[in-house]
Amino acid sequence: MSERKPIVAGNWKMHNDRNETRTLIRQIIQNGKNLGQNCEVIIAPPFTSIACAAKEIENSAIKLGGQNIFWEDKGAFTGEISGPMLKEIGCTHVIIGHSERRQYFGETDETVNKKIGSAIKHGLIPIFCMGETLIERETGQTFEVLKSQLVKGLKSLKVQNPVDFVMAYEPVWAIGTGKTASPEQAQEAHAFLRRELALLWGDKFAAETRILYGGSVKPGNAKDLIGQTDIDGGLIGGASLNAEDFLGIIEQGTGF
Ligand code: PGA
Repeated sequence: MSERKPIVAGNWKMHNDRNETRTLIRQIIQNGKNLGQNCEVIIAPPFTSIACAAKEIENSAIKLGGQNIFWEDKGAFTGEISGPMLKEIGCTHVIIGHSERRQYFGETDETVNKKIGSAIKHGLIPIFCMGETLIERETGQTFEVLKSQLVKGLKSLKVQNPVDFVMAYEPVWAIGTGKTASPEQAQEAHAFLRRELALLWGDKFAAETRILYGGSVKPGNAKDLIGQTDIDGGLIGGASLNAEDFLGIIEQGTGF
């Protein structure tokens, strides 16, 4: 791997109330050796647990992410949370364009684009998710879909520093299903995304951008996946809800 510092991010989805949040974070901190030293560790709790998580991670290397963001800063947008609000509560990162949001909540490439723009504007690091469905893979459309998501998601945007931008390749058919992309399939998709990013934002930027793999990552497959040349870490759903598994992925996947 190049000098890209690996990232392991836990996407908690709609799991963990405040008590569960406290317990899980304490377990991660107590059992994680040299946490954050050679690998960035991020957790993205549900909004109601972020304040509690922010308190628990004080003086630890764990960073906080939101699972979603709205593109306006404030106003009559019932149910939404803005970039300044995420910043204020202690988030440094925000997951944008997760396939569950695209699938169940009407997220489109256009709204993803506005959200990434807002994250950049407010100094939040977007974790920009892309991935093909099973049908799209089976009908040979994987690369077309990835390219379209990438180009539309980043339309008219630019990030100055590659450390402030993260992408995630998450094949929809591998999320929460127990099926993972093979390391070769994942590597192929990551290399493709990096090449396409280079066409947009230049070779140097693309070479320094972390691209995470997501989809049924477990301690047992983390090494093979994250060990691939263009895979710079993982976006972990189910296995991030258990401290031992989450730490196991960090250890196996990044060697620390
Ligand atoms: P999973 O989820 O690890 O449970 O497959 C990954 C994700 O959706 O980010």
